[in-house]
Amino acid sequence: MPEPDSVPAADLPPRTVRRAGGWAVGNRGDDEYFAVSRRCRHQLADLAEGSVDADGCLVCPWHQSRYDVRTGEMVDGPRGFLGYHGPAPGYSGLVRLVGSIARLRVGQAVRRGDDVVVTD
Ligand code: FES
Repeated sequence: MPEPDSVPAADLPPRTVRRAGGWAVGNRGDDEYFAVSRRCRHQLADLAEGSVDADGCLVCPWHQSRYDVRTGEMVDGPRGFLGYHGPAPGYSGLVRLVGSIARLRVGQAVRRGDDVVVTD
């Protein structure tokens, strides 16, 4: 049986996110850990390189789409596309609609000893 994907808990201070296999694993604050699939629904950026905002949402590193990590739903669409970074209201709303339906996969991230371990 393969080892579960994990991250040392010491590498997950509040409002950070790290890579663990196919998961973006993070800490929303108060050691409330989460795990979601890593590829942004917009243009496939690696969400493990994103950030966690003050609301505990995962923010994509490329165009700042925001995800509710409890459901995997995109709650705010991208601010741009390809190399463009800026307002794109109609486009952003359309991508958000798709991202609210085609949600990220959500795993269970739990503390086990010194690690945060992800299970499906
Ligand atoms: S790739 Fe994530 S918002 Fe564009």
